[in-house]
Amino acid sequence: MTTIDREKLKKLQEREAKRFIAEHPRSATLYERAQSSLLGGVPMNWMKKWAGAFPVFVKSAKGAHFTCVDGREYVDLCLGDTGAMTGHSPDAVVEAVAKRAGEGITLMLPTEDALFVGEDLKRRFGLPYWQFTLTATDANRFSIRIAREITQRPKILVFHYCYHGTVDETFAGMKDGAVGPRRGNIGPPVNPAETTRVVEFNDLHALEEALRHHDVACILAEPAMTNVGIILPETGYWKAARELARRYGALLIADETHTICAGPGGCTAEWKLERDMLVFGKAIGSGIPGATYGCTEEVAQRISARIHLEDCDVGGIGGTLAGNALSLAAMRATLEHVLTAKNFEKMVALAVRFNEGVSAEIKKNGLPWNVQRLGCRAEYTFCQRPPRNGGESAAAADFELERFLHLYALNRGVLLTPFHNMALMCPETTEADIDQHTRIFAEAAEELAKV
Ligand SMILES: Cc1ncc(COP(=O)(O)O)c(C=O)c1O
Repeated sequence: MTTIDREKLKKLQEREAKRFIAEHPRSATLYERAQSSLLGGVPMNWMKKWAGAFPVFVKSAKGAHFTCVDGREYVDLCLGDTGAMTGHSPDAVVEAVAKRAGEGITLMLPTEDALFVGEDLKRRFGLPYWQFTLTATDANRFSIRIAREITQRPKILVFHYCYHGTVDETFAGMKDGAVGPRRGNIGPPVNPAETTRVVEFNDLHALEEALRHHDVACILAEPAMTNVGIILPETGYWKAARELARRYGALLIADETHTICAGPGGCTAEWKLERDMLVFGKAIGSGIPGATYGCTEEVAQRISARIHLEDCDVGGIGGTLAGNALSLAAMRATLEHVLTAKNFEKMVALAVRFNEGVSAEIKKNGLPWNVQRLGCRAEYTFCQRPPRNGGESAAAADFELERFLHLYALNRGVLLTPFHNMALMCPETTEADIDQHTRIFAEAAEELAKV
């Protein structure tokens, strides 16, 4: 097996960093100017994490491609970390949003689009009732609140190295078996050990031990982990986990925000999973802010019984702009015209092509890496066998190597997510786009493996 020569990696990284700066003078100028008005020179702090010396400033994007202010064109395999899994600005959504924007954006009153969306979600995911928020973070927060309220239990359970948005309770990690704030957690309100139990994914024994305390209101989980590489559930895991949740009185909340990549009904429909609640954000409105959470008849009855009309606006679930007319118009057009079974078929085939290409290059160059896939999402990790839980995947992370591969791809016209090695397909992605990435990946792998 090839081991990475760190000195060589450093030199290659320096070469790529210089090339990036030389080829993006306009982005460099804008970044410099931004230092005097934007904290850290970026609109949001994680935008500093891109692999170059500064982020590429975007001029325009359409479908699977975008152009930067320096006039360079890119294949976008990041797709707004799933927010643009629909492709950038799909025509049907642009049209619906433009129309709605001219007819009232937010009113604190429902529009008919909400019914279309609710009925569509009901068919897709098999849950009868839906509510809307602006972000998946909020949809998770509100689902957790509902679970706490109806179970009258204080804690939630999440998997080690999960990510569910900026939800305080989920920013927990494990060190030597003890729960505490996750690395990098900024100003936690309390030690998350007070609010959260954390176990490794795919470990039913650990799950049962955690549930045995009878203080867990809900398990908040992605059906397959996607934020620490793609980690698939082992056969029978969810069936058994579901039974444990029932036995110990905890609700099961499926966060399908990323796993919607598995198909039009996410993993829930693909794998026929049973859930008490389900969350779906990001791509639901093609990037127009909006998200949703749904629940079973039983959860609906239990929560309705505890909400009094007079207090329903101050219960900690809400948001002035949540469920606004523009979000709902975007969701309707996205569900009706973009996240369709036909488009998924195309997207999944492209992800298969991506995996075959990358896998062949990994093998050819004797690299101890693997590539996983979930529907139209693919990801490679720096270990030989696909990790079975967050701890294993985090142990294989290699920040330097990751940054090198991202910058190498960016310099040659392909954008990967800044956080890990994820590639996502949208309905407009082409085989040529995938092959371009494969060629670049092959060049990088060869450069790294060459003695
Ligand atoms: C699985 C999952 N759920 C929820 C979220 C939160 O989404 P948002 O940041 O749009 O609130 C994310 C964000 O990456 C996510 O990966």
